[in-house]
Amino acid sequence: MRNLIDITDFSPEELKSLLETANDISEHPDQYSDSCRGKKLATAFYEPSTRTRLSFEAAMLELGGNVIGFSDAGSSSASKGESIADTAKILSCYADIIAIRHPKEGSAYVAGLNATVPVINAGDGGHCHPTQTLADLLTIYKEMGRLDNLTVGCCGDLKYGRTVHSLLSALTRYENIHVVLISPEELCLPEYMKKEVLDKNGVSYVETTSLESALPELDVLYMTRIQRERFDDPAVYERLKDSYILTPEKMTAAKQTMRVLHPLPRVNEISVKVDSDPRAAYFCQALNGKYMRMALILKLLKETQTVNEHNHSDVLVNELFCDNPRCITSIEQELDHMFRPTDKKGMFRCIYCERNQTR
Ligand code: NCD
Repeated sequence: MRNLIDITDFSPEELKSLLETANDISEHPDQYSDSCRGKKLATAFYEPSTRTRLSFEAAMLELGGNVIGFSDAGSSSASKGESIADTAKILSCYADIIAIRHPKEGSAYVAGLNATVPVINAGDGGHCHPTQTLADLLTIYKEMGRLDNLTVGCCGDLKYGRTVHSLLSALTRYENIHVVLISPEELCLPEYMKKEVLDKNGVSYVETTSLESALPELDVLYMTRIQRERFDDPAVYERLKDSYILTPEKMTAAKQTMRVLHPLPRVNEISVKVDSDPRAAYFCQALNGKYMRMALILKLLKETQTVNEHNHSDVLVNELFCDNPRCITSIEQELDHMFRPTDKKGMFRCIYCERNQTR
């Protein structure tokens, strides 16, 4: 059994093979229309979603399978206080594969530890969103013809934007990637992402608050929405919500070969007037997401061997306590608090939300 919790759960070869399968599916959909006959996907969505949930559903239906699930925590036993661990065990009795979205960081990891069928992370709070990255990679590959030798600008809410976290983790796997991080100072990329993902993998990056100054050098511009629901203080959201708005005028400074991606939904960070620009790739990206999810479901249902390692040998159990209010440990009282040592002496990382803590 195999899960997809973090995009780095897959090797670059596996990502390549998923891209190839997704391409093949898009060209010959009929050949796949019976591939999952008799199989069920459970969608456990505790947070709003249009694209992710519906593209998972469409993906499973187009593979000939069926879908069960809920799209509102209020209609599931979560509203009665059921834990993620118990829900994962129960869904394993009814479905062959589970896609879960939850507002707490590390929730999908907990589901993966407890389910007996493959678990896919469809977004865990402000942490990761690996299946969006699958859509992003296919889009970049189709539009640019390559996944290496790229200058990629990520713009908007880099603090809470889980799609950016997963995309950057994936990009570290490719050669000669330069990253431009464009955000207000308050919404810059978390330290663990800079240190443990970019620095550790030797990916060069710069940080700026100016989209205009960054635009001319970019091959890919990855726009994101300011994540209103993750702000503790609504006044801060109000102040930052219009930080970046991409317009046709601004696009004149960009390369003709640049592509604009956005995981969607957009609020107002891309003017609708940009939609007709041939460099706008965000609607194709949503379609690519369906093909990648089809490829992913096929792959995970085929794999019977357990590859995900839950090697907890170097882990500290209940010696340190995670104080991140967004971590799954903040609501599930019975979870062990588990930390792994980092490269820095005395610094440990929560295995669920990746927040660092010193001892
Ligand atoms: C993203 C998400 O849920 O993180 N949406 C999506 O899955 N396509 C981006 C967002 O909500 O801003």
